[in-house]
Amino acid sequence: MAKTAIVTGGGSGLGQSAALRLAQEGINIAVVDISEKGGNETVEQVKALGPDAIFIRADVSKAQEVKNYVDKTVEHFGSIDYFFNNAGISGSGKQFLETDIEEIEQIVGINMLGALYGLRYVAEVLVNNGGGAIVNTASSAGVIGQDTVVTYSATKHGIVGMTKSLVAEYAKDGLRVNAVAPGPTETPMVKAYFDANPKMKKSAEEGIPQKRLGTSDEVAELVAFLLTSKAQYINGDVIRIDGGFTSTK
Ligand SMILES: NC(=O)c1ccc[n+]([C@@H]2O[C@H](COP(=O)([O-])OP(=O)(O)OC[C@H]3O[C@@H](n4cnc5c(N)ncnc54)[C@H](O)[C@@H]3O)[C@@H](O)[C@H]2O)c1
Repeated sequence: MAKTAIVTGGGSGLGQSAALRLAQEGINIAVVDISEKGGNETVEQVKALGPDAIFIRADVSKAQEVKNYVDKTVEHFGSIDYFFNNAGISGSGKQFLETDIEEIEQIVGINMLGALYGLRYVAEVLVNNGGGAIVNTASSAGVIGQDTVVTYSATKHGIVGMTKSLVAEYAKDGLRVNAVAPGPTETPMVKAYFDANPKMKKSAEEGIPQKRLGTSDEVAELVAFLLTSKAQYINGDVIRIDGGFTSTK
């Protein structure tokens, strides 16, 4: 029987690329996003590759909406096998002492609580079904400290903590949970920022030993590897995919 994956933030960037890469493996996809337009686009692209797909609109920072996307996925596909817990936002790029409380609450709400709610409801289904695999999206900022990203970095270090601790509790129940930690990757979000600030792009590339940004397809390849049975004995790990960026820090 075909497997089913939930991909949050599946309407753009890393989530969209991962959804398409998983679809190439014949996996059905529940695309979760706050953006209807992006989510529906991904659904069409997955279907064009063969597997079934549905779009479920959710704001992942709202626990009820997270419960709803999990329920809807089980209702439509019968079960869940894989979870790419990926939706997230960056910050305004201000120094921490200039950041207002609303921005802090928003980033923590989406990146940290959104990921935790997803784990709470999806892991419950996986454990009750005898297991499954999860990949959480951390970041280079979840592995090292950087300026202008204090809140974002806090949430991404949080992703690392929830990844490791969930394994401590539920690996015995067949759960595998890993995190990916991408460096600057050319997704629509980052591309728009760098198109407007070409000098920033150049300096970002210069700070990466491989002298270029990552691509969302490169991250998608890693996510697919970690989710499927090829990575059967990799558990609780944080895999950096950053062209050597954090290795030099
Ligand atoms: N692009 C990078 O350089 C990079 C590097 C490291 C980590 N990341 C992380 O990768 C993940 C994906 O980022 P991306 O670069 O693909 O960005 P993106 O903006 O291209 O995609 C993010 C998607 O998440 C959705 N989203 C935003 N808020 C949401 C909410 N409240 N509920 C549901 N969906 C929501 C957006 O609509 C969008 O479709 C994020 O967690 C980000 O922090 C990105």
